[in-house]
Amino acid sequence: MCGIVGYIGGGQALPVLLDGMTKLEYRGYDSAGVAVVADGSLQVERRAGQMHNLLEALETRPMPGGLGIGHTRWATHGPPTDGNAHPHVDCSGRIAVVHNGIIENHDVLRARLEGEGHEFRSDTDTEVVAHLIESILREGEVDLRTAMLRTVNLLEGAFALVCISVDQPGSIVVARQEPPIIVGAAEGIGLVGSDIPALLDHTRDIVPLDNHQIAEVSPGSVRVWDFEGNEVEFETVHVEWDLAAAERGGYEDFMLKEIFEQPEAVRNTMRGRLDPAGCIVLDEVHWDKETLAAITKVVIVACGTSFHAGMAAKHAIEHWTRIPVELDLASEFRYRDPVLDATSLVIGIAQSGETADTLAALRFAKEMGAHVAAVTNVVGSSITRDADAVLFTHAGPEISVASTKTFLAQLTALNLFALYLAQERGAMTQAKMAETIEAMRALPEQIEDVLMLQDDVHRAAKRYAHVTDALFIGRGVGMAVAMEGALKLKEISYIHAEGYAAGELKHGAIALIEDGTPVIGILTGHRLYDKMLANVQEVRARGAQTVLVAPRGDERARSLANELFEVPLTKPLLTPILDTIPMQLFAYYVAKERGLSPDRPRNLAKSVTVE
Ligand code: M6R
Repeated sequence: MCGIVGYIGGGQALPVLLDGMTKLEYRGYDSAGVAVVADGSLQVERRAGQMHNLLEALETRPMPGGLGIGHTRWATHGPPTDGNAHPHVDCSGRIAVVHNGIIENHDVLRARLEGEGHEFRSDTDTEVVAHLIESILREGEVDLRTAMLRTVNLLEGAFALVCISVDQPGSIVVARQEPPIIVGAAEGIGLVGSDIPALLDHTRDIVPLDNHQIAEVSPGSVRVWDFEGNEVEFETVHVEWDLAAAERGGYEDFMLKEIFEQPEAVRNTMRGRLDPAGCIVLDEVHWDKETLAAITKVVIVACGTSFHAGMAAKHAIEHWTRIPVELDLASEFRYRDPVLDATSLVIGIAQSGETADTLAALRFAKEMGAHVAAVTNVVGSSITRDADAVLFTHAGPEISVASTKTFLAQLTALNLFALYLAQERGAMTQAKMAETIEAMRALPEQIEDVLMLQDDVHRAAKRYAHVTDALFIGRGVGMAVAMEGALKLKEISYIHAEGYAAGELKHGAIALIEDGTPVIGILTGHRLYDKMLANVQEVRARGAQTVLVAPRGDERARSLANELFEVPLTKPLLTPILDTIPMQLFAYYVAKERGLSPDRPRNLAKSVTVE
């Protein structure tokens, strides 16, 4: 999820680009760069790190010119270095491209282009686009838009692409396949942005490109074509939002925005990793089959929400691979003298990739000779240096302190990893693998479906916003959801909440229940369903108000619920990806009802870089 800005007009491009990029920095902030066309040449400046590094570099390098593009990067391919920062240019240095998304077939295209003599200067997937356009333009008699059209038809994956050329200084060419991109024009100028804040100072009339469209933006004019090359009509939308609302995409808070970004986050985590032939492709994992076959145990270490993703992953790995899994809080693991050797696989999970305890745990595991894998959302983060294999979640930056979309992305990545281990060790039949992959493919749409519960959850949250305690119960993977639901409620609403194994209630916690105590039950559709129903009956008999998450259409759950959130059916081990969503919305709306700011809960930081 990167930030893109483009400008063409009679004024200076650079200040417009830098201003827009600063406003889009919430979309990505691990490097930034600009390209400006002036006097028949292309000038490019790129810097790793936040915008201020680029701004410093530009202090001594003025870039006059009325055509330019800028980019703030959230890395997906290649670490966040100066060289991997966008814009990327072709061999001649006359074409510049910025990109948001993932080009899945970049390696095949790169090999072909290198074979034709193109020289690559970065590790990114994006650079192939600059060289493809160059190569098509070299054939002659086509303009930049046509070259873009031919290029996008060669690409697989997701992309919002913006391109400028010294040889066609009258327009900016834009293409969209999935990630959003908007264009606009006002008197004497043309604009491009990956999000509304970048354009707001110049125009409130924007054209959001549809999927599979190409636009040509010139001063005062926008034209749009489909991927077959037919010119199409487009709609202009008038935006009334102020800047702060625009940064949050019109949502009241980043947390709500990020909850609604979850279909996309999960789609991106799976992108390129589910082969149509029915197998899992993990390019980042380089261990050979023998090494994976020799693994005798897996140890998962993490903190907070990432730990809850690990709780669910333990079930998936054990069930699909039959390898025993230990799960530990990173802060406990590092001090408990664990038994590890060269047949152990230690998986560290950290969305930030910077959590001090998780980093220390992985370093320790490495010293003990274990194989180390990391699951993280941040390319270039410290955890990527300590791991032998890194699985990126590709969820895009998460601004709200409370993790939401990165949790669903972690669950997805860990399921992929578990299936990959099963595949490489021959632990799963082809039929079961194919069935599970199909169920995973359905998840993004099912998440969209669960998000429709928003109003129901909001109404329920109003009824419980005054409580002082809440109990969340579940079994199996449902327990991970219960723990995560309780953590969300605690951290943003400051209500005392406990996540509990439903079967453990009778051993103590049931004493907490009195008239009106809310008990949130995760009734995941699996073999423990009847046992969960029995636990729900027990708490109701003691006066609890029950809020249940249950598979759609189950009448037994309905008869036992004060509030019922129905979710679509999926494979039992995939249920946390759907069941967590009502819990996130519930915590969010309880916090709002209590007048609290969900994005900035007291006493907490997004990334815990100290012990
Ligand atoms: O970056 P990490 O995933 O390692 O962060 C771990 C926890 O600090 C984090 O999940 C924390 O619990 C969140 N605030 C939960 O919403």
